Amino acid sequence: MDVITSAAILPLLLGCLGVFGLFRLLQWMRMKAYLRNAVVVITGATSGLGKECAKVFYAAGAKLVLCGRNTEALEELTQELSALRATTAQTHKPRTVTFDLTDPGAIIAAAAEILQCFGCVDILVNNAGISYRGAIMETPVDVDKRVMETNYFGPVALTKALLPSMIKRRQGHIIAISSIQGKISIPFRSAYAASKHATQAFFDCLRAEMEQYEIEVTVISPGYIHTNLSLNAITADGSRYGVMDKTTAQGRSPVAVARDVLAAVGKKKKEVVLAGLLPSLAVYLRALAPGLFFSLMASRARKERKSKDS
Ligand SMILES: NC(=O)c1ccc[n+]([C@@H]2O[C@H](COP(=O)([O-])OP(=O)(O)OC[C@H]3O[C@@H](n4cnc5c(N)ncnc54)[C@H](OP(=O)(O)O)[C@@H]3O)[C@@H](O)[C@H]2O)c1
Repeated sequence: MDVITSAAILPLLLGCLGVFGLFRLLQWMRMKAYLRNAVVVITGATSGLGKECAKVFYAAGAKLVLCGRNTEALEELTQELSALRATTAQTHKPRTVTFDLTDPGAIIAAAAEILQCFGCVDILVNNAGISYRGAIMETPVDVDKRVMETNYFGPVALTKALLPSMIKRRQGHIIAISSIQGKISIPFRSAYAASKHATQAFFDCLRAEMEQYEIEVTVISPGYIHTNLSLNAITADGSRYGVMDKTTAQGRSPVAVARDVLAAVGKKKKEVVLAGLLPSLAVYLRALAPGLFFSLMASRARKERKSKDS
């Protein structure tokens, strides 16, 4: 009986492995085909995660439209990409569009320019963003608005400006680079956490409303990434924070996160959390034991205030 059982299990196991391998191969091929020659718009391509996303999407054969505020930095990146050693996919010379996400008029003009680059947009990666460090009681509303304009109203306006052309083609994919802080709120990050919570909510609604047009929506929520985000963060008085926080310095490499973004887009995932065990657990704690989560955050606020005062 034992001999018969083991003789039957081995081929079954190998069969299962074969089917799984075939499934992964098909998934990989479908992903490659989805990204090859796709027109991909990336905002905030001049730095950090956006820059690394540009590299991985370029290597996958996408037709890139790189967006940012700094024309020179965008041109430099275009040259850097063109100099990359040959990839297996055919590559395309990226185009660049310069605009500021806090300027609604500039967004409308930029959307028209973006559409002219390759005639359509297949994938929009809303990546640009700024962070914030400060106490709520010391922060004038103007500063909250600046963070909201960059992280929320700007991406929303750009998405709305590009959606009609996607709807017409019944094809398109919108990505929102949110944050784990779009799911949990950490003290002294109010404007940033609020902007990312708003991002999560807006793009969740968009996903449901766009299903009828076969337009995909992916919300990506990373934990800390080692980029210039904390250096570029604004403080309560609107000035640049200029500090590389320990948490940011110890964050994941933007190269690795960009690869995860590419995979999430290629697999048309609806939502991805790219964070370590502790922040991921905090998301569950916020949902399942909010009282405990609030106590932990209050204690964190007390500690941070004490260390600031000392
Ligand atoms: N780093 C992290 O720990 C972390 C964690 C979770 C989520 N994220 C998210 O990841 C995204 C990318 O951030 P990053 O970490 O790569 O930071 P980063 O290195 O500071 O890059 C931010 C990018 O956004 C652009 N940007 C900022 N304000 C803009 C505006 N008003 N108009 C147009 N572009 C603007 C910047 O352009 P300029 O060069 O012109 O300033 C830059 O290209 C952000 O949405 C951020 O919230 C980051």
